[in-house]
Amino acid sequence: MCDNANSIAVLTSGGDAPGMNAAVRAVVRSAINRNLQVYGVKRGYNGLLNGDVIQMNLRSVSDIINRGGTVLYTARSEEYNTPEGVKKAADYCRSLGVKGVVVIGGDGSFRGARDLSGAGIPCVGIPGTIDNDIACSEYTIGFDTAMNTVLENVDKIRDTAQSHDRCSVVEVMGRRCGDIALQTGIACGATSILVPEKPHDLDSMVIDKIIKTKATGKKHFIVVVAEGVGGTSEIAKYIEEKTGIESRATILGHVQRGGCPTLRDRVVASAMGHHAVDLICNNIGTRVVAMQKGNIVDLDISEALSMKRVFDEELYNIAMDVSI
Ligand code: F6P
Repeated sequence: MCDNANSIAVLTSGGDAPGMNAAVRAVVRSAINRNLQVYGVKRGYNGLLNGDVIQMNLRSVSDIINRGGTVLYTARSEEYNTPEGVKKAADYCRSLGVKGVVVIGGDGSFRGARDLSGAGIPCVGIPGTIDNDIACSEYTIGFDTAMNTVLENVDKIRDTAQSHDRCSVVEVMGRRCGDIALQTGIACGATSILVPEKPHDLDSMVIDKIIKTKATGKKHFIVVVAEGVGGTSEIAKYIEEKTGIESRATILGHVQRGGCPTLRDRVVASAMGHHAVDLICNNIGTRVVAMQKGNIVDLDISEALSMKRVFDEELYNIAMDVSI
């Protein structure tokens, strides 16, 4: 049972990610189980500025655990990112009698949550982004689904690359973080994986490898490029020019952001949503829920935002060793 204020608000912000709905569902149901009213805020922080909120009940979140996207919609709000915007949002939360706000999103959304907490509204962040680029958490909601989407598509691309003895260069999402590229590159047997965290010398990392593996009898090739590296079409042209192997570029794009969330995303989202409500019920705000060593934990938002992401060097070295 919670004391004092009797409602909680939940919003999704920034890029959507499969599993966000499962997190919303967990927040709504955990809060109602603790006798709190729940407000669903539409289109991220914009909803707090425009009064675009709906009251949610147990049935408002029926049949959403299996759906991609976010039923609350999402946005990146420019107006909110000003001191006046934050104050307006905080005043609106106070007028609703909100005990705390659960914010599901990435780093930008957490900065918004930190600011709203600073204005007197306790906020708890939940990492929701397909990129897995949140330093304090070894996992972000949506990552597993996005990777499985990539895998399914690259398997299809492989069929046609194989039929034509071609090289397929596939660009996957991840502006600053190469986790999707690294893990899907391993899982789809890519010859080369280019990530923003590592230098990417095309001659040594792509061309030489293709020539070497071709000499062992390999006839078709997959190269996975993270969005943050870019230049995918040019890379395909360069490969064709240097190796004589016909090459094609595919940019998978937003297909990676949609679709039915995997079991892992649904379970992690449910556990994180539940944990966030526990914190708010205990009057604890300014926190981010995270996964560390497989456990759901929480830490201070500013501390979380100041952490530097650690790239998985060990996995990268494995990828380099097995991609021959
Ligand atoms: O942060 C998630 C992400 O999908 C990135 O991988 C990508 O760079 C970006 O969002 C795309 O954003 P938008 O949908 O606004 O184009």
